[in-house]
Amino acid sequence: MRGESNCHTFRQIVGWKTAGMRLAVLIAIVLQALGLAVGWPQEPAQPRLDEEFTKQEKIYRRRGAGSYTANRGLSDYAEVLPTGFCDALNRLGSSDRWLDIGAGEGQAILDYYAGKGNASPEKCGGSGPKARAVAISIEDRRTDRWKQQAASLGDRMRYLAGKRLSQYSRAELGKFQIITDVYGGFTYTENLSRFLDKVLSLLEVGGAVYTVLPAVHLEDGTDKLGTWYKTELVDAASRPVKVSSWLSQTTCTKVTYESKTDWDEPTQLIKIRKTCSDVAVPRTNLVEYMAGAPPNRRFQLER
Ligand SMILES: C[S@@+](CC[C@H](N)C(=O)[O-])C[C@H]1O[C@@H](n2cnc3c(N)ncnc32)[C@H](O)[C@@H]1O
Repeated sequence: MRGESNCHTFRQIVGWKTAGMRLAVLIAIVLQALGLAVGWPQEPAQPRLDEEFTKQEKIYRRRGAGSYTANRGLSDYAEVLPTGFCDALNRLGSSDRWLDIGAGEGQAILDYYAGKGNASPEKCGGSGPKARAVAISIEDRRTDRWKQQAASLGDRMRYLAGKRLSQYSRAELGKFQIITDVYGGFTYTENLSRFLDKVLSLLEVGGAVYTVLPAVHLEDGTDKLGTWYKTELVDAASRPVKVSSWLSQTTCTKVTYESKTDWDEPTQLIKIRKTCSDVAVPRTNLVEYMAGAPPNRRFQLER
């Protein structure tokens, strides 16, 4: 369940331009199934990346049946985010702030204000005073319900669209006690280190980011043989690196993981607590990107 999975991988393979590329990818899948290191098909890098970015823009704009899931409610967030998310949300006071990056329709925030999450087993949202909440989405997916609720809550609940997280200044957004990202920017960004750096710069010391990453090498190594990874990290010598190894090198953070092996795809639930202000995220460079929902991405760590 629960995954951000779709069957685009096979469709992409079939849709790729040359038989050579298709063959290369199929060989890669077989090698991956055998647990061997694989390389992505070689092509002139930037023009192909640009083509993929253009396709990705269309995916963000798509509506209806071909679109991705953008209306998960608070009980879904409680299910896919790390343990402790609901308790942390319940503890927020009226002057605290919650940022949801990649909020889609902002359903989780709507549920929070409507007290709907309390019906979930996790009792998410609490019955006390509500924090301020900000939803960010590239495309504007505000529903009528959002507009009605926002009209009665004024600026306690904000929806920002039209830009990516990296395009906002820190002053525009301010600081937050809780930041969530459910199959949002962390799963879609083409610049992983810049994205995380921005996220952590918006977090108060003592606050936490709750997020989830599908189809990755799991921290505890329990992912099954033959998985097609959608987010891959490699070191300077192109050897596979787990997301957890990269995150462990980020200063001023304490990161905890939960591994979901029995979901559609091996999925890593990640909680990042900010412990001091001097955060430095090790740089990643994008080496491959294939548009999709979510996209396939490969990043190389800088030496
Ligand atoms: C698959 S939807 C998930 C929506 C919602 N979290 C849910 O679970 O229903 C992806 C969302 O992430 C947003 N997104 C992707 N990359 C982003 C970025 N870099 N900055 C802000 N939003 C981003 C998209 O615009 C969209 O709102």
